[in-house]
Amino acid sequence: MKQIKFGPDQKTVSGIVLGCMRIDNAKDPVEVITTAVENGITFFDHADIYGAGKCEEIFAAALKKTDYKREGLHIQSKCGIVPGKMYDFSKAHIIESVEKILKRLDTDYLDSFLLHRPDTLMEPEEVAEAFDTLYTAGKVRQFGVSNFSGPQIDLLQKYVNQPLIANQLQFGIMHTGMIDNGIHVNMTDPRSIDHDNGILEYSRLHDMTIQAWSPYQYGWFEGSFIDNDKFPALNQKLAELAEKYGMTKTGLSSAWILRHPANMQVIIGTMTPSRITEIAQAAEVSLTREEWYSVYLAAGNDLP
Ligand SMILES: NC(=O)c1ccc[n+]([C@@H]2O[C@H](COP(=O)([O-])OP(=O)(O)OC[C@H]3O[C@@H](n4cnc5c(N)ncnc54)[C@H](OP(=O)(O)O)[C@@H]3O)[C@@H](O)[C@H]2O)c1
Repeated sequence: MKQIKFGPDQKTVSGIVLGCMRIDNAKDPVEVITTAVENGITFFDHADIYGAGKCEEIFAAALKKTDYKREGLHIQSKCGIVPGKMYDFSKAHIIESVEKILKRLDTDYLDSFLLHRPDTLMEPEEVAEAFDTLYTAGKVRQFGVSNFSGPQIDLLQKYVNQPLIANQLQFGIMHTGMIDNGIHVNMTDPRSIDHDNGILEYSRLHDMTIQAWSPYQYGWFEGSFIDNDKFPALNQKLAELAEKYGMTKTGLSSAWILRHPANMQVIIGTMTPSRITEIAQAAEVSLTREEWYSVYLAAGNDLP
């Protein structure tokens, strides 16, 4: 399993992360977790809202049925979204949410904790107090954000004492906004529009790990692009490369993200053990520059 540098202390973690947003749909959560760990995927992503808390509980109950030691795993969760109502980065909400997360996950600490989506009413001083409280109590070891722009991270980092080490962002073969504008810079076509305030370059400059979420989806959770008739050229290109490397299209699609030098992690959401294995195995493949761009083009993009 490809390892990714995570945070300033040179710690490394698995390049593939198992996202647990859909674990409430898993036929056998124990098999899902064991397949991941046996294939070197030891990093698990949660959020308090996944299954309204059920996903964290299902994960904890399944993990209990294995022999894995807590210290060999990296467990991450997020809070800050109050679905349909608001975003809440108040000190009280953050601390209370983490306490509940720890209870549901049946663990004393989170290896990392992220703020899920920017709260425009954020008071960074309050967030700093919450982070200090959680860090000092040993309840959270590392902190980060999700769906944040560079200036939003700068604003928060000005006040919080711990380094913000990760930013979770949607990225995959069919969701490339983060790189399109860098390729089309100085043009006037739609792809030149910067929706993310240069977040890719910002992350690389600040040694922040981008965690690519929903890497197999196109649009807003519209479905997977793999074997999807809407994307014939892409599927043909992936099949060609998959054959060359003796992998599957599914595996190759995560290898495409890992090939980017920004050192991203890929948060996969499949609950199908065979797909988890395919993805983990393909994490070893390093596409050539030409192959990487050929997939980008087959996805319907262009190079000016
Ligand atoms: N920070 C955020 O705002 C945010 C937002 C969304 C998600 N996330 C994180 O990202 C994780 C992944 O999200 P996601 O589940 O949407 O990611 P995904 O890996 O893009 O999608 C997984 C879904 O696609 C299906 N699928 C169909 N064909 C597939 C194929 N060939 N290969 C792989 N999957 C295929 C899977 O079904 P099967 O299970 O049947 O295989 C599963 O339902 C979440 O668990 C969560 O941790 C973060």
